[in-house]
Amino acid sequence: MQRIFSGVQPTGNLHLGNYLGAIRNWVRLQNEFECIFCMVDLHAITVWQDPKDLVKNTREVAAGMIAAGIDADKHIVFNQSMVPAHAQLAWVFNCVARIGWLNRMTQFKEKAGKHKENASVGLFAYPNLMSADILAYKATHVPVGEDQKQHLELARDTAQKFNSDYGIDFFPQPEPLIFGAATRVMSLRDGAKKMSKSDESDYSRINMTDDADTIALKVRKAKTDLFPMPDSLDGLEGRPEASNLIGIYAALSDKDKALVASQFAGRQFSEFKAELVDLAVAVLGPINTEMNRLMDDPSHIDAILKKGAERANAIAEPILKDVYDIVGFLRP
Ligand code: TYM
Repeated sequence: MQRIFSGVQPTGNLHLGNYLGAIRNWVRLQNEFECIFCMVDLHAITVWQDPKDLVKNTREVAAGMIAAGIDADKHIVFNQSMVPAHAQLAWVFNCVARIGWLNRMTQFKEKAGKHKENASVGLFAYPNLMSADILAYKATHVPVGEDQKQHLELARDTAQKFNSDYGIDFFPQPEPLIFGAATRVMSLRDGAKKMSKSDESDYSRINMTDDADTIALKVRKAKTDLFPMPDSLDGLEGRPEASNLIGIYAALSDKDKALVASQFAGRQFSEFKAELVDLAVAVLGPINTEMNRLMDDPSHIDAILKKGAERANAIAEPILKDVYDIVGFLRP
């Protein structure tokens, strides 16, 4: 069976972008693939994290995944720092990938901002750790949102360079799986910015922990323009906020975006928003309730993660040993 690996950073609340761009797709892929899902806590500390928050967020993200429908008995759910092979393989990849490749990563440029010299070395080398996450399991498919595409290309280049440097067909070329009506969910306050955990304004995103009243308030306050709803996708040209809200509706209702545009053609945004609230609450409400129930018992979540880490280790450790042999590390 082909194998999936994907991860999410436990740096704050899961939001609608994480759900529609990634986690919901993971749930749907569970029947076709052997899956490994990871809370990437090693990635999280590339930017400062309060240690107490990191612990809490790791459990919360795990609860969110399981509440959304990930089957942690059938598949593997764990946190990255519990499996040493990630960091160990990342070091090897630090020596395979080229500085020029990393220099091209747009996410580093965005996250580091103007003062690159002050960014952590980890933030720069982040994509190599991500390649290691995937290739430590020889994963063949990686379901992610649009924003991770460039990192995935780097993982493919790294796998290929490792294979050619050592003259062995060892790592597969992992395929990105980017699908659905909302592969890039934008901020509710600015249609040019991605919805993200790190946006200062909580009104920019819908969190998986938001209750119905909060969702209603955020959708009502979401930025739109003064025009009525268009009757086709062409009418969304130059209207990023309108396009984003229609995309969210389409993804939540599992409909084509063009169909949603024609359904609401000519209507006022206020009417559309009222229906979007009902839809969002209907989809996210049950997940929220289940997440809160799981969070009441942290020891249960910890037990799931511990078992997941044991299973992950059992796959990654032999692959890392092979890598060490290929590279020529003496293991007396
Ligand atoms: P992270 O934690 O930023 O996001 C987790 C997943 O959610 C997707 N996503 C979005 N999709 C659509 N619209 C958005 N606004 C949006 N925001 C986030 C992301 O594309 C991602 O799929 N580097 C990764 C984590 C990672 C990883 C990996 C992923 C580490 N190692 C190995 C795959 C394989 C990240 O920061 O995701």
